[in-house]
Amino acid sequence: MEQLEPTLAAIAAADTIEAVEALRVGALGKQGWVSALLKSLGGMSPEERTSTGPRIHAAREAVTAALGERRAALESAALEAKLAAETADLSLPAPATARGSVHPVSQVMDELAEIFADMGFAVATGPEIEDDWHNFTALNMPETHPARAMHDTFYFPDHDVQGRSMLLRTHTSPVQIRSMLSQGAPLRVIAPGRVYRSDSDATHTPMFHQIEGLVIDKGIHLGHLKWTLETFLKAFFEREDIVLRLRPSYFPFTEPSVEVDVGYTLINGKRVVGGSGDATNGGWMEVLGSGMVNRKVIEFGGLDPDEWQGFAFGTGVDRLAMLKYGMDDLRAFFDGDVRWLQHYGFGALDVPTLSGGVGVRA
Ligand code: PHE
Repeated sequence: MEQLEPTLAAIAAADTIEAVEALRVGALGKQGWVSALLKSLGGMSPEERTSTGPRIHAAREAVTAALGERRAALESAALEAKLAAETADLSLPAPATARGSVHPVSQVMDELAEIFADMGFAVATGPEIEDDWHNFTALNMPETHPARAMHDTFYFPDHDVQGRSMLLRTHTSPVQIRSMLSQGAPLRVIAPGRVYRSDSDATHTPMFHQIEGLVIDKGIHLGHLKWTLETFLKAFFEREDIVLRLRPSYFPFTEPSVEVDVGYTLINGKRVVGGSGDATNGGWMEVLGSGMVNRKVIEFGGLDPDEWQGFAFGTGVDRLAMLKYGMDDLRAFFDGDVRWLQHYGFGALDVPTLSGGVGVRA
């Protein structure tokens, strides 16, 4: 029992957790002196055991308590030291944090709104869940019209209260009808928004974005259409050498219908908008559908086609963004990959203005 005092003294003096552990093993471990004393109880006479036993147990408890106390003291000292070493210096500059960016589709829509606002166009909207009357019938596509089948439409199982089939709009053209019915004439609107078609590959996604343009006024002719598109494309691509080619085409809602190609030049194997497509290192690509609004559509819009004429156009916003900012896979637009968004996204303060430039990069 003579080891008790030196053991307690050594525990009190131990200055590391490891030293405390070594003292525990020396006293309470298998070979420890307390364990040896406990073992010796078996060979004692009952009287001896009665007098010595409690002293051995008391020694074991004293050592155990001293070890626990010392270990707790050392642990809290270690924690104090760690906390002292890890204080935050509030005078340091804030660390760089991830920031959001404006999606190129949003940016391009803002650019388009800015460009057309300058030409006197207001922004109109319509529902993405549309009925087949606005999406097809009123655009001169009666139920049996073959163009309906070409749209790969997503239909809803139920009809609306008027018995019309409900669908996800396949183009922004129904906003033409809604604008005429709600605002009458004269009219100058653009309608950007989401559209849906059951189609999916590298250049088609089931949801994409279009922008519609509609002008209704008196004495409107194809010359107005061509000037408007040329002015728009020059402002959008920010270059003067934009050359347009108008090709006769067919849309049920315009007559005549015109598909618009823009000339491009090949630069390092990439198509860059600008220059005549007839040059040896260039070509034409289709960017827009358009035409003079069909008389029947003007009637469906509640207006007299002998009094009012107009032109309309529609184009893909995602496609315009790709041509202007150089992305080559449409699907990445809708993946939400932060690396893509950081690379192609715009800063919140890059608000497009005609004076500051509609194409400021982040
Ligand atoms: N709505 C047509 C489409 O989605 C585009 C278009 C709009 C054509 C307006 C002519 C006039 O392809």
